[in-house]
Amino acid sequence: MEKWTTYYVDKMLKINQELELQPKAMVVTYGCQMNARDSEKLAGMLTEMGYAITEDEDATDLVIFNTCCVRENAENRLYGNLGNFKVRKEQNRNLKLVLCGCMMQQDMVVEKIKGSYPYVDVIFGTFNIYRFPQLLHTSLETKGIIVDIWQEAPEIIEDLPSLREFPYKAGVNIMYGCDNFCTFCIVPYVRGRERSRRPEDILAEVQALADDGVREIMLLGQNVNSYNGGISFAELLHKVSEVEGIARIRFISSHPKDVTDDVIEAIRDLPKVCNYLHLPFQAGSDKILENMNRKHTKKWYMDLVDKVKAGVPGIALTTDIMVGFPGETEEDFQDTLDIVRHGRFASAFTFIYSRRLGTPADHMDDQIPESVVKERFNRLLEEVNRITGEISAEKLGCELEVLVEGVGKDGLLHGRADDNSLVHFEGDSDLCGKLVKVKIIGAKTFYLTGEIM
Ligand code: SAM
Ligand code: SF4
Ligand code: F3S
Repeated sequence: MEKWTTYYVDKMLKINQELELQPKAMVVTYGCQMNARDSEKLAGMLTEMGYAITEDEDATDLVIFNTCCVRENAENRLYGNLGNFKVRKEQNRNLKLVLCGCMMQQDMVVEKIKGSYPYVDVIFGTFNIYRFPQLLHTSLETKGIIVDIWQEAPEIIEDLPSLREFPYKAGVNIMYGCDNFCTFCIVPYVRGRERSRRPEDILAEVQALADDGVREIMLLGQNVNSYNGGISFAELLHKVSEVEGIARIRFISSHPKDVTDDVIEAIRDLPKVCNYLHLPFQAGSDKILENMNRKHTKKWYMDLVDKVKAGVPGIALTTDIMVGFPGETEEDFQDTLDIVRHGRFASAFTFIYSRRLGTPADHMDDQIPESVVKERFNRLLEEVNRITGEISAEKLGCELEVLVEGVGKDGLLHGRADDNSLVHFEGDSDLCGKLVKVKIIGAKTFYLTGEIM
């Protein structure tokens, strides 16, 4: 197995140490938790190469955009930002501009960047982030754009350095890629086939995080519960639960088809596994679900919700919902609203369908006009928010155990309860990283306020 090599890290470190001032680098992340986790690894590599991480774009010597292409607006944000950096590059010839992530796995994107943004220095994709130090080093010695895109990941590279975003909670990849090929989704094309990490590698990482003060682990995967690293996902939950020092375990994102009984039992029986499940359903109508290749029907999903709620009393469910998939009629949309009302989700991410080149849905007839989609989207949002508000209000007077994550700009502590609700309350900053009991005294739609008991 090819190992993570520090050869080019050391070379870059030497170069950077010879500079008068320590160079600064900025990591800009778009997209999901998988990208956020990759960005921690990029920041880790940059730190080992001698860069100081900054958020000040006026002061930085290197910018790396870790991109997302799940919807068109994610792509547009990158192009907007790249335009801004043209002037900066003209003012500072030494400024390095690096692009990576899901967008770069698409040929037409790389061609567009080469044509319209030739001042970019380095481009790489999702399968070879470990090569970043080498590519950066090459770009110091070469003119023009360095492009290195792989079509698949030959192996999982362990032991990449990492600079964590949060002190007390951390994401841990357990699998990469997606084999589901929902017809609207670009992820399987840009993240490749499913690959699971070995349990011993995952457990060693979790143990190291616990030793470093992390209390909450988020197991990550595009289909986290289709994990198969020689043991099942439920078995992995049991093993991670045994790691001393870890107080809480969450996981995201689960595909409904893989929510097996042993996973429900693990959530119920393992005290560290939070009473929380993110369970995207996308759409309600059987016709749309079939055209989406989601592998379940409306009734099957609603029955699953009932089974999960009966199996784990008090569990909080959240979801992803999409409107405007090709062929969606008002009747189909009503099916979506039925699931929203039945599921009573604690919160939901709502999306307008975005055509993605190269996906089957892009070729489907009957794309829905924007005005119709927007009107449905607004109705969906109203219903989702109404229910979120009601569920929030039900927590008034309850006692919740909150993991304190930090102090906000308003001076209040903030953290999340077991059911993932966000809570703000007064308290001493010494409590950061601790589990505290909080009585809920106020309920807004998206967060709660409380007082320490
Ligand atoms: N693997 C996860 C799952 O199936 O639940 C979701 C990963 S995807 C990054 C997150 C969400 O983005 C999806 O659940 C879907 O709602 C949304 N999404 C994916 N493709 C989309 C598209 N073409 N247009 C709009 N939303 C999209
Ligand atoms: Fe995309 Fe579907 Fe895979 Fe989720 S399960 S990443 S929505 S293809
Ligand atoms: Fe976006 Fe890639 Fe995640 S397309 S949502 S960053 S896997």
